[in-house]
Amino acid sequence: IEEQLKTEHLDICNCFKYYKDVGLQEVLDEHKISLRGRCECVTEGSDDTGSGTLLNRIYTDLYITEGQSEEVNTQHEVRQLETALMGTLHDTAIKVHDIFKALPDQQTHIRVVLTNGVAGVGKTFSVQKFTLDWAEDLENQDVSLLVLLSFRELNLIQDEQYSLLTLLHVFHPTLQKVTAEQLAVCKPLFIFDGLDESRLSLDFNNREVVSDVTQESSVNVLLTNLIKGNLLPSALVWITSRPAAANQIPPTCVDRVTEVRGFTDVQKEEYFRRRFSDEELSSRIISHIKTSRSLHIMCHIPVFCWITATVLEHMLTTEQRGELPKTLTDLYSHFLLVQTRRKKNKYDEGHETSPQELTEADREVLLKLGRLAFEHLEKGNIMFYQEDLEQCGVDVTEALVYSGVCTEIFKRESVIFQKTVYRFVHLSIQEFLAAVYMFHCYTNRKTEVLKEFFTIRNIFFSLDYLLYLTMEKSLRSKTGHLDLFVRFLHGLCLESNHRLLGGLLGRTENSPDVIQRVINKLKDTNSRDISPDRSINIFHCLMEMNDHSVHQEIQEFLKSENRSDKYLSVIHCSALAYMLQMSEEFLDELDLKKFNTSTEGRQRLIPAVRNCRKARLSASGLSETHCEVVASALKSNPSHLRELDLSENNKLQDSGVKLLCDGLKSPNCRLETLSLSGCSLSEISCDSLVSALKSNPSHLTELDLSWNKDLQDSGVKLLCGFLESPQCRLETLRLNNCRLSEISCDSLVSALKSNPSHLKELDLSGNKLLETLRLIYCSLSEISCDSLVSALKSNPSHLTELDLSGNKLQNSGVKLLCGFLKSPQCRLKTLRLNWCSLSEISCDSLVSALKSNPSHLTELDLSGNNLQDSAVKQLCGFLESPQCRLETLRSCWLSKISCDSLVSALKSNPSHLTELDLSWNNLKDSDILWKNYTTLDENKCYDIAEAY
Ligand SMILES: *[C@@H]1O[C@H](CO)[C@@H](O)[C@H](O)[C@H]1NC(C)=O
Ligand SMILES: *[C@@H]1O[C@H](CO)[C@@H](O)[C@H](O)[C@H]1NC(C)=O
Repeated sequence: IEEQLKTEHLDICNCFKYYKDVGLQEVLDEHKISLRGRCECVTEGSDDTGSGTLLNRIYTDLYITEGQSEEVNTQHEVRQLETALMGTLHDTAIKVHDIFKALPDQQTHIRVVLTNGVAGVGKTFSVQKFTLDWAEDLENQDVSLLVLLSFRELNLIQDEQYSLLTLLHVFHPTLQKVTAEQLAVCKPLFIFDGLDESRLSLDFNNREVVSDVTQESSVNVLLTNLIKGNLLPSALVWITSRPAAANQIPPTCVDRVTEVRGFTDVQKEEYFRRRFSDEELSSRIISHIKTSRSLHIMCHIPVFCWITATVLEHMLTTEQRGELPKTLTDLYSHFLLVQTRRKKNKYDEGHETSPQELTEADREVLLKLGRLAFEHLEKGNIMFYQEDLEQCGVDVTEALVYSGVCTEIFKRESVIFQKTVYRFVHLSIQEFLAAVYMFHCYTNRKTEVLKEFFTIRNIFFSLDYLLYLTMEKSLRSKTGHLDLFVRFLHGLCLESNHRLLGGLLGRTENSPDVIQRVINKLKDTNSRDISPDRSINIFHCLMEMNDHSVHQEIQEFLKSENRSDKYLSVIHCSALAYMLQMSEEFLDELDLKKFNTSTEGRQRLIPAVRNCRKARLSASGLSETHCEVVASALKSNPSHLRELDLSENNKLQDSGVKLLCDGLKSPNCRLETLSLSGCSLSEISCDSLVSALKSNPSHLTELDLSWNKDLQDSGVKLLCGFLESPQCRLETLRLNNCRLSEISCDSLVSALKSNPSHLKELDLSGNKLLETLRLIYCSLSEISCDSLVSALKSNPSHLTELDLSGNKLQNSGVKLLCGFLKSPQCRLKTLRLNWCSLSEISCDSLVSALKSNPSHLTELDLSGNNLQDSAVKQLCGFLESPQCRLETLRSCWLSKISCDSLVSALKSNPSHLTELDLSWNNLKDSDILWKNYTTLDENKCYDIAEAY
């Protein structure tokens, strides 16, 4: 500085400014060093081994994509992972350091990024890698200050008042010297890691505005203002979360949503290669994982790769014997052993006693942790405080420091402010230990625990009944929170796992008979009203029990040519659904009718819709729970479904459609054709559909809502709200047989007038719309009569006026028409057939038809046809009949003979006719008495008749 002052003669102000900047730079350099220290070393799993690994040595790119699969909240994360995996082949990945950079075709400035991902998928690793690269001056150097905070830390000050500046100072002591002015002018990036662990109630509706970094407020208010951009608008914000918690941030506040999907197949292999310097070892591990489908799938989660690597490395390098684990239960049992042994080596060097077995002390600690895991599994807790541990008899100091077992599976989150939080290194470890504990309680007759879990009184039951009850309970779970637990529980029955875990599980009656009973029960578990996603877990349980029969049968089925020859049981269907869903190729069409199975079996196949283009699910007794699966298929990213036929599922109803609409409104949904024909829908469904389609309008081109008798005019009116929206691309709309009246026509016409360009086909048949049909001078021939008659016969009761004048129908046409006229349902009042090239033959047919169904017709127009006297005579035969109700008759009067006939007919049946039109005839003057009268009223008619 002195040098600067001398040489550049800076004035005192400039000097001061310069000094400050230099000060900031120093602070930032120090901060970078501190962040490097915090991020360059990582520990996978536990944080207490004292043997961290360099992040850059093991870091493998993760698969991060823009957007998310939207399968939030409701599903167990392992299922979410399976679902998400199906998309990975088809969309573009983003590198972690590009997370704030817009894609080439995007114009927007990205200020707030929300990154989702299931537990253990690598969100925190991504954050660490991003931070390290920044701190090492490698990436994102336009960010001048990076502030890393975890929600877990923020929880601890949730009730206190801070300003953003003091918050920085508290959590990053290296930043003590940073001033409000400096913060305001630099471009900071705030990373908030682990929203799912937040206990703050982020309230975005709170109007309190904080725009000054020195203004004190609650952490909740500071954060919401920062995210909304009220506070430090130039700051970038990055939030990571598990999917279930991500909805705390309103979508409007987020510029980009990304999803960490873990490792792709290639990245998985890279991970193992980077981890082991021994190439042969990594190759053996990779090839083993490929032989087990469940391990291979789970290895998309980095933490699971670590578990697998730990177990397989140990088995391949130290034991060199025994079969490598293939099921999840095998793997986790080995993991428990390996970790215990490792620790033992570490703390009691040289005293390795009986390496195959757990000591009494190990067992005791594991069971206590099992109890903790079990009790909190039901509550959905994954973080524990010291009190929770003490309640289960876990002595924190003893457990973590002296017992070998804990540290690698149970982890202390060191946090500031003297409050410590604990968790299992991964949720699946908690689920495994919970299953171990439950098994132990069963064999040791700890009946209270089981009674409470099942809320039953009597618990003298066999092992197979215990498993049955647990399965029942897990199937009823909406979220599948017991799915892995019940899988582990089944796996634990096997003799091999008993041998591994020894005394931990206790003595049981796991004879081959019992095992077979369990397997048989699994195969025909009833799953009525159970989500087909849950039912797939039954198949996983079979796999955990090493029963591969169903899997093999389905593989054969998939290879066979005559698929309908094979009757599929319900468990076959679940296995098939799983395999189709996870298949790398996707199905062009899934048609449930083509499978030779029961209705329940068909329903179990539904998860396969996630991996097909056209889904035909008609008449399969679908209910709400199935709609949820279909909706999740529509929401998934990317979604392949283009055609969806749900017709004739009368249990679906409005509630089902409402769930479906959840999928329809997703931006991932690309559905083009939807049939909901005959699903007992009312206008409520129209409401849901319209609001869903409005928010995602551009894909659907065909909508079939026919045969929903409660839809009615009110439904159509709602639907028109969508039709008239300019983004509506609907080309075909079927509303036949929906009990519509002309009111619907009104709504439809006005909607279509305001947005006329897309609809090409509108089916309104089978509704009471039409009372009048005029097809005057339409160049119709008798062929039209044929079509018309068949249409009218199938829906005869509404039409009261039919005007076909000016068409060359000819006698043959009229003859066809008479088929309708004489049908008792015909209610026609007016029939116009003038100028239709008819002769007396037509009169013949007409009269005989009218005579057999005489009571409705009041107006008949036959003028302009070449009728002869004989024809008029026929007509008069009808006029004379007492049931004739004709009021208006237009005809050709040809001669005196015709007049005679008419008069005599009218005299014999005088009471109805009020209008007689005989114009357009070619009679000579002398023959006419009343030629000037083109129309006569009743009285005149009588007058003239009298005169005649
Ligand atoms: C499939 O069925 C057809 C007719 O039922 C039969 O002729 C054919 O041999 C069957 N194919 C196979 C592979 O079973
Ligand atoms: C369904 O499978 C059973 C048993 O294999 C067979 O007898 C039956 O013919 C099959 N049904 C159809 C429609 O193919």
